[in-house]
Amino acid sequence: TPAVIVAIDGPSGTGKSSTSKAVAARLGLSYLDTGAQYRAITWWMLNNGVDTADADAVAAAAGKPSIVSGTDPLSPAISADGADASGPIRTQEVTAAVSAVSAVPEVRERITGLQRTIAAEARGGIVVEGRDIGTTVLPDADLKVFLTASPEARAARRNGELKTADGTSVSDLAATQQALTARDRADSSRKTSPLKKADDAVEVDTTELTLEQVVECVVTLVEKAA
Ligand code: C5P
Repeated sequence: TPAVIVAIDGPSGTGKSSTSKAVAARLGLSYLDTGAQYRAITWWMLNNGVDTADADAVAAAAGKPSIVSGTDPLSPAISADGADASGPIRTQEVTAAVSAVSAVPEVRERITGLQRTIAAEARGGIVVEGRDIGTTVLPDADLKVFLTASPEARAARRNGELKTADGTSVSDLAATQQALTARDRADSSRKTSPLKKADDAVEVDTTELTLEQVVECVVTLVEKAA
């Protein structure tokens, strides 16, 4: 049987990561968190003196670090130039800079290439989550899902997830909602490969659903598509 390819896109805080990992684990598929790749290259740039607000500097550095992603849904790993990035990519500093870095075409080209290679090499099939997987990275995916949720639900889910560089949890609902909205606006309005529902994606509004219900729904869609 051919390997099934599942694309899961949507804005932040819709449950993309939890859903994608659970669906992959349940069906024995590989898993790729493309947001983690953009975060890892951003983290590397912040650590290596690249001004992330300077698109030319970001473009010039886009090819420099090696970015390696694990594809086990139970322990997704990510490294930049051999250094484990899984912790630091969740800091506020990286979160605040990632949209500007990911909007640079040279960065997208580089990371998209890595994503296509990983998907092609995933023999048993893969769940790939991100913003432009169904529209740009894997337009021939067997199933495309676009997750949405109300801004309030998204902020509530993200609140407390963010950590400062010293490990302190940040919990401020209004600030979380504002940061989320700003990031989604930047991701949706950029020129290259913006966050957008693919025409042939199935939209699932998760506002009133539990994680288990969303997982069940997507598993059923994958089984129908495979
Ligand atoms: O999913 P996550 O919130 O970790 O993604 C972090 C950022 O990476 C997004 O806000 C977006 O700027 C970028 N991203 C992207 N394309 C993807 C996945 C993430 O531009 N496919």
